[in-house]
Amino acid sequence: MLTASDSVDFDALRKDFPIFDSGPQTLHYLDSAATSQKPRCVIDAIDLCYRNQYGPVHRGLYPLAESATEAYEKARQTIENFINAPSPDEIIFTRSATEAINLVASGWARQALEAGDEIWVSQMEHHSNYLPWQRVCRDRGASLKVIPLDSSGQLDLDKADGLFGNRTRLIAITHVSNVLGIVNPVEKITRLASVNSIPVLVDAAQSVGHMPVDVQSLSCDFLVASAHKMCGPGGIGFLYGKKERLTQTEPLLLGGGMVDQVLADTSIWAEIPARFEAGSPNLAGALGFAVAAAYIEEIGRQPIAKREQELAATAFEALSEIDGVTIYGPENSPYRSGILSFNIDGIHPHDIAQIAGEHGVAIRAGHHCCQPLMRHLNTPSTARASFSFYNNKDDIAALVMAVHETKKILGS
Ligand SMILES: Cc1ncc(COP(=O)(O)O)c(C=O)c1O
Repeated sequence: MLTASDSVDFDALRKDFPIFDSGPQTLHYLDSAATSQKPRCVIDAIDLCYRNQYGPVHRGLYPLAESATEAYEKARQTIENFINAPSPDEIIFTRSATEAINLVASGWARQALEAGDEIWVSQMEHHSNYLPWQRVCRDRGASLKVIPLDSSGQLDLDKADGLFGNRTRLIAITHVSNVLGIVNPVEKITRLASVNSIPVLVDAAQSVGHMPVDVQSLSCDFLVASAHKMCGPGGIGFLYGKKERLTQTEPLLLGGGMVDQVLADTSIWAEIPARFEAGSPNLAGALGFAVAAAYIEEIGRQPIAKREQELAATAFEALSEIDGVTIYGPENSPYRSGILSFNIDGIHPHDIAQIAGEHGVAIRAGHHCCQPLMRHLNTPSTARASFSFYNNKDDIAALVMAVHETKKILGS
């Protein structure tokens, strides 16, 4: 029987990525959760933008400026369709997922919170989806509450069930853990939240390029992501916000392009989304982002998810056969994505990553900006291999070899 991932020739797709031909001679790139490699179509779109299309966005009346504005707004529509948002006005281009979360924390939560209120996050959040809430809660006399994890690292929602109450103003939750690869049951959380009309922000940095993401079926109020983790350029991301929520949000950045009238001592903001995009927009970033989204959409996020799960499952099995290797998170399950964190007894993860690097295997080591999760796992850091659809079985074999090599060199 043909499965979703068999119907796509992923080995052929690998050829779309110039780095595997013209980059370092041996590159087993297993760090896509940090940032992904870029296909030729994205590189070409950015190149074309600067060669033929570059002009000021929303700021000129001559043809080049008008077509730059049109292209930028078309890119917004591509992102709207990519996440099935009801309107392009609900897509705000930001510098990153991090900036998008900070916009909601400073612009929305700061107004919404009163002393005694609560914001809920989980113990597996990236610092980008933790620190902005920690600060706004501290400043407003509110509490930051943390959904606990069970022993396998999954959200312990049984405990959270009765916890979201009438003082809860927001739940901010990651869709996919950047350490454990766990896919969180966001629909279940939004259902629980809806009982008390609690808004939910979804950090989709590790999901939107790897699995189908539909803001209407997730039923979330805000969703954020970065282009660079989904084959797109650096320096651009987005915030999706329900219209109703965006109208309650103050802009984070003030300046050109976001204001309608500047009076002597007050000002009237421009309409949404311009209100939230102060300064000259990142045209090449937006165009590259839209091409990346279209490229991923053409492959299909269902087959991509399946391919990445299969690669991670194969790596999971191979690594778990090696003495002294601990893999974090639940055993393979449909609730895991292509991210795998592990340690080797008695060996520092930085040493694993360094020796792997010397063998052409690019993995990450550290706390992955998830110190609260590291405390739960009872380790200061882990090694992490993260798979993208452009990886293959050779990359897994090289990873396994690098782990054996590390053990041999460091005598574990
Ligand atoms: C789950 C998660 N959220 C947020 C971020 C922040 O993304 P960015 O650095 O692109 O803003 C990351 C980055 O690793 C992440 O993995």
